[in-house]
Amino acid sequence: MTTLVRDIDIIRDQFPILQQEVNGKPLVYFDNAATAQKPRKVIDAISDYYSTINSNVHRGVHTLSQRATDSFEGARTRIAKHLNAGDPHQIIFTRGTTEGINLIAYSFGQTLKSGDEIILSALEHHSNIVPWQMLAERKGLTIKVIPMNDAGELDMEVYASLLSKRTALVSVNHISNALGTINPVEEIISLAHEVGAVVHIDGAQSVPHMKVDLQKLDVDLYTFSAHKAYGPTGFGVLFGKRSLLEAIPPFHGGGEMIETVTFEKTTYAGLPHKFEAGTPDIAGAIGLAAALDWMEEVGLDNIAFQENDLLSYATEQLMGLGGITLYGTAAKKAGVISFNVDSVHPYDTGVILDKLGIAVRTGHHCTQPIMDRFGIPGTVRASFAIYNTRVEVDRMIEGLKKVKQMFL
Ligand code: ALA
Repeated sequence: MTTLVRDIDIIRDQFPILQQEVNGKPLVYFDNAATAQKPRKVIDAISDYYSTINSNVHRGVHTLSQRATDSFEGARTRIAKHLNAGDPHQIIFTRGTTEGINLIAYSFGQTLKSGDEIILSALEHHSNIVPWQMLAERKGLTIKVIPMNDAGELDMEVYASLLSKRTALVSVNHISNALGTINPVEEIISLAHEVGAVVHIDGAQSVPHMKVDLQKLDVDLYTFSAHKAYGPTGFGVLFGKRSLLEAIPPFHGGGEMIETVTFEKTTYAGLPHKFEAGTPDIAGAIGLAAALDWMEEVGLDNIAFQENDLLSYATEQLMGLGGITLYGTAAKKAGVISFNVDSVHPYDTGVILDKLGIAVRTGHHCTQPIMDRFGIPGTVRASFAIYNTRVEVDRMIEGLKKVKQMFL
């Protein structure tokens, strides 16, 4: 494993974007929870698709269309294998996690009735709150929230007490984008199944950083975005168990998702096409498959090792600075550090770091309820990927010393 740290330069060389200077300084990219950078393999896969086989899928008898269809469906099989999803037809292509959750809220939501309950957690991104509120308003549902402690860990005793025969759905994230907490999703899923509830896990922050085994998790619905996992933006995946996806109505209507259409009646296509109206993002699927190939070549254990090393190193260095408040100190955490420097507004810290070529995210991170829980407007968030280094963490620490000099 220690060899890997020496090999980070080889990994960095595969990312054209990392070779540049920003504001006259070598770029330090610590905004990976917002979107990760793309290795040459992914950029080439997308470019090769458009340069050699671009054509619409599932429609033409001509050779290019068949090649595009083979690559597109091959990508589905590749993605299913990476996630141990079983039948690739349980992999539905979406525009990202947000669209996947909206699909579930609309389609699964049609099967719910007034009085049914949905359980969310205090750690959710707005995309796993707002669609459920919209649904709850339409259908007269009740939303209940699993609280968290000061470390940003969910209170599992309260969770158990919220579950009942009225619980129709539990929807929580695997890893918190704002605090990095890794949630005990195995336990969350099995407890929900005991009362017959369906479980959706938002995997936007987990698929880029760990091995996700969908069959082992026994999860009903799982969503994630390609762009946080070294793949392209505007593309994502919804996994659903076949029986569930077959039982719920489609989301969007249009071409590709039908079996027969007359002006009197339409019958729908089988999985996965029932949920994929219109021309799909073919290059997106090919790009995600290439990204997952790349992650497996690098090794998921190596990715986790490097990010965990950066998490402990950065935490230690930050605490050594003095005057830093960390938000999110869960025992199980991914490579995300949220913090503030004394009373300095996170935006000001972000601007100074940017001037030094260091990209972090500042603000509420689309998790206003978490910020309210801590009574703050926002945080500075550094989030790591395999290509980040301890030297880059040192540069951020130097930047924060400047912030302290300027504002305190
Ligand atoms: N959800 C993304 C983030 O946490 C955009 O930054």
